[in-house]
Formats: sequence, structure tokens, C-alpha cells
Amino acid sequence: MSSYVVVGASRGLGFEYLRQLSENPENIVVGLVRNVQATRDKVAAEIDRPNVHIFYSDLSDYKTLPGAVEETSKVTGGKLDVLIANAAVGGDYFDLTLSELGSDPEKLEKDLTDCFRLNVVAQAHAVNAFMPLVLLGKTKKVIVMTTGMADVDLVRKYDLWMGVGYCASKAALNMIIAKFSAEYREKGVLFLGISPGVVDTSASDTNGAKDAVNRASSALGAKLLEYEPEWKGPIQTEESIKKILSVTDKATAEDGNAGDFVSHLGNKRWV
Ligand SMILES: NC(=O)c1ccc[n+]([C@@H]2O[C@H](COP(=O)([O-])OP(=O)(O)OC[C@H]3O[C@@H](n4cnc5c(N)ncnc54)[C@H](OP(=O)(O)O)[C@@H]3O)[C@@H](O)[C@H]2O)c1
Repeated sequence: MSSYVVVGASRGLGFEYLRQLSENPENIVVGLVRNVQATRDKVAAEIDRPNVHIFYSDLSDYKTLPGAVEETSKVTGGKLDVLIANAAVGGDYFDLTLSELGSDPEKLEKDLTDCFRLNVVAQAHAVNAFMPLVLLGKTKKVIVMTTGMADVDLVRKYDLWMGVGYCASKAALNMIIAKFSAEYREKGVLFLGISPGVVDTSASDTNGAKDAVNRASSALGAKLLEYEPEWKGPIQTEESIKKILSVTDKATAEDGNAGDFVSHLGNKRWV
């Protein structure tokens, strides 16, 4: 039996984590979301298992975290085995280059600050809030969702110009993961960044959050085909999370990957 918290579980990969982790009835699976009732309804309709619990937290306001920790603690017995920091934003201008953003300085400000606020600062708050429970847990793992698009070598070799704020913020997030690992590895806590591959989560994008990402998708797809000519296109959430869990289940604080970021394949191949 293990306990899990998935931060940002309302849809996409976060919701698929809830589905797969709750398959084991012994597990306790908590999802943190902004829209509690809608997510509880969706869980009832699509998962319907008593070991899934949905609580409120809006990551854009760190003051909502202590309440979420308290609610979680009540169902997990005051400890937590695995924290999964999954929430992210892609920004409104994923399809613009840096100079296009710069031609309207307000857009440059917004892209970088929106992405850094949620993808970096809010992640650090969320991890800090749950660390007391993680330190009391059995497995002591913090899995943070990042992206291969934050791999500087990939960006420079294949001229990946899109997703400026998103990629820069995920690169900064990778450093935050390394810093947390530097602090907690000797206490037996594994911090690991995971890129899920390119995953089709458009079906659950009910609020158009991915419009800008979709506009950049054919240019990005062409670059990824240069990188991996055998690439077959986006995979489904089910396949991605299955592969991620096989990587994270095996990973330990001592295996040399602590504080690093790897793909759903367990290495530095991003698709
Ligand atoms: N899909 C891919 O191909 C891909 C590739 C590389 C990396 N990733 C990473 O994998 C993770 C999941 O991706 P995804 O495609 O499933 O994303 P998604 O479909 O866009 O879902 C994002 C999740 O984050 C939540 N979220 C956003 N802002 C929040 C806030 N202020 N407070 C709480 N929750 C918030 C969303 O909740 P709401 O419903 O309330 O907006 C949603 O549950 C992300 O970290 C992403 O960067 C994805």
C-alpha cells in the first residue's frame, strides 16, 4: 500500500495518474485541483473508486496549500509516500519566437512571468508544503513533471524556437528539482524530473488552455521528426503514465539519477 498526491489532477496526465494509481485498491490516491466538484463528478463517472480523494488547491495562491496538506493528512494517516507535481501552464504565446514576443514587450513579460510563476515558483511552494508528510512516508519520492523541451542540447541542435516561457521555466524547474535533491537526498528522498513524451491531451482541454501549443504543433512535430525519424506522433495518456510509473517505481534516491530529469523511457531520449 502506498499513498500518492497528484498536484493538478483535473485532466490530462494528472487525471490518468489518478486512474492508474487507484487500480490497486490498497493505494490511497489524492488529487489536488482548482475545480473540486467537476473533478469529483468526473472521477465518479470515469474511475469510481473509493480510494480516490479530490481536494482543493489553486497553485497560483500558495495560501491554498496548507488546507490541502491538512485534508490529505486526514486520509493518509499523517504521511505521504509519493508526491507528483504535475500541474503546469504552457503560456498564451507558445507559438511565438523570442523576437516576436519582444515586438510586444507586454507579451514577453506575460509569457515569462506566467510560466515562471506556475511552473517554477508554485512548484517549489507545493513541494515545501508537502515535505513534512513525505519525510514521514515509506517510499519518500517526489516526482516532478518536466519536459525534454527544456533540454538545452535538444533546443540548440534542432532549433526549437517555440514555447519560450514554457521551456525556460521548465529548465529552471529542473534546477529546482536538483536543489531539492541536494537538500533531501541524504535524508532518503528521491527527487526526479520526468518528461512524459509528447502526449495527446487535447481531448481534456476544455478551456482552450492549449490553443497556442496547438498552433505551434506542426512546426514542433517537424523538428521532432528530424530528431527521431521513427517518431510516430503523440502517444496517449495511458501509455505515457504506464511507462512513467515503470520508471519511477524502480527509481531510488541512491541509483545515481536523483535530482536529474529523464523521459518516460527512463533515459534522455525524449520521444
Ligand atoms: N502533454 C504533453 O505532451 C507534455 C509534454 C511534456 C511535458 N508535459 C508536462 O506534463 C504535465 C501534465 O501535462 P498535461 O498535458 O496533462 O497538461 P494539461 O492537460 O494542460 O493539464 C494541466 C493540469 O495542470 C492544472 N493546473 C494548471 N494551473 C493550475 C493551478 N493554478 N492550480 C492547480 N492546478 C493547475 C490544470 O488544472 P485546470 O483544469 O484547473 O486548468 C490541469 O489539471 C505538465 O507538467 C506538462 O508540462 C506534458
